[in-house]
Formats: sequence, structure tokens, C-alpha cells
Amino acid sequence: MKFFIDTANLQQIQEAQDLGVLDGVTTNPSLMAKEGITGDENVKNHYKAICAIVDGDVSAEVISTDYESMIKEGLELAALDSKIVVKVPMIKDGIKAIKYFSQQGIRTNCTLVFSAGQALLAAKAGATYVSPFIGRLDDISVDGIGLIEDIRLIYDNYAYPTQILAASVRHSAHILSCAKVGADVMTGPLSAMLALLKHPLTDSGLATFLADHAKASGK
Ligand code: E4P
Repeated sequence: MKFFIDTANLQQIQEAQDLGVLDGVTTNPSLMAKEGITGDENVKNHYKAICAIVDGDVSAEVISTDYESMIKEGLELAALDSKIVVKVPMIKDGIKAIKYFSQQGIRTNCTLVFSAGQALLAAKAGATYVSPFIGRLDDISVDGIGLIEDIRLIYDNYAYPTQILAASVRHSAHILSCAKVGADVMTGPLSAMLALLKHPLTDSGLATFLADHAKASGK
């Protein structure tokens, strides 16, 4: 399973990249705003800065919601760097735009997906990635991981090449569940990735090893 980090924070992206397990980055307009990145040129420069750090795909989301503007914006984003994947919302014009981009060989990430029907449509339009938001579904007491399972079944039935990018991942248990049900990618915060490192028996075991070594060495 690929690990993407879901942030526009350059320091966190660098930290995840340095860990050696990062496969890509996803951003969205809210994450860009959180970093104080506004204005067309600043946004574009920020995407370039992310691409310079990460060795993998970088999702950059269009703001437009009508077909013509989404195409124009998506082409501009795709031209920034070969790592850019154009992120398009799951709306009618978005599906048309994904179809257009896939015919042009431009990679896409269909975002804001909350049902298996939406995921089926994204695959038929030729999306490279589909992003079901599991955390936001869990927030409303709908089984987010269950949705990943349903999409996996449907995509496998027809050998759709669209990759399931489990989004809105909140914690390490989500990451494990995504891996168990066969998500191709998960995108989440750095904290969720680092939490995978943790086990109390690792900490106490290491403390004992080091103490025994110090005793035997007479330190
Ligand atoms: C997907 O690419 C989105 O950026 C995302 O994962 C949103 O997650 P949130 O529910 O934590 O905002």
C-alpha cells in the first residue's frame, strides 16, 4: 500500500520524505489555506516546492466547478511538474473533466467520494485515483472502511485500473484497516504514520537491552 501525506505543510512533507516511506502528497484548498497560501502564483509556487521535496505523486485540486474552467485550471496545474495529479471533485462537470484529462494522458484524483456508485463512475471516466473519505464517513456513523471494501470488490470484478486512495485517514488504526481490505493508497497526517512505530513492548524491550548492555560493560 502506498503512503501519501495529506498536508500542504512543507516541514511535515520533508519529515515524511526523510522517513523513507513516503509515496506522494495530497492537498486540498482547506489544507493550502491552513498554510496561508493564497493567490494563483503563490499556490503554483507552493505546488512546485512540494514537488521538489517528494519523490512521488502530488495531488493539486482545481477550484473551478464548471467544465471549461476545470480543464483550463487542470492543464495549468499539470504543466507545473510531471508529479502533479489533477484533483477534481465528484460532480457532473468533474466527471466530464476527468474523462477529458484521461484521454489527454493527464492523471487525475477524483475527490469527495462517499459512495460506491460515485467510485464506479470515477473509474468509468478513467480516474487514476479515487478518493473515498473514510474519516468523514465515520464522523457521521457510516462505515468508511466498509466503503473501501465495496469499491475494492467492484473494481476487482471488472479489473478497473483506478487506484483506491483511502482519504480522510485520521489515525494508525485506519491505516491498518485500509491495508487489510486492500486500499491501493492511504493518505493521512504524519502523526498517523508515526503512530505505527509505537508499541510499549518495543520501548520497554529497548530500555532493558540498553540497561543490560550498560551493566555488562560496567558503565
Ligand atoms: C483528500 O485528499 C483530502 O485532502 C482529505 O483526506 C480530507 O481529509 P479530512 O477529512 O481530514 O479533511
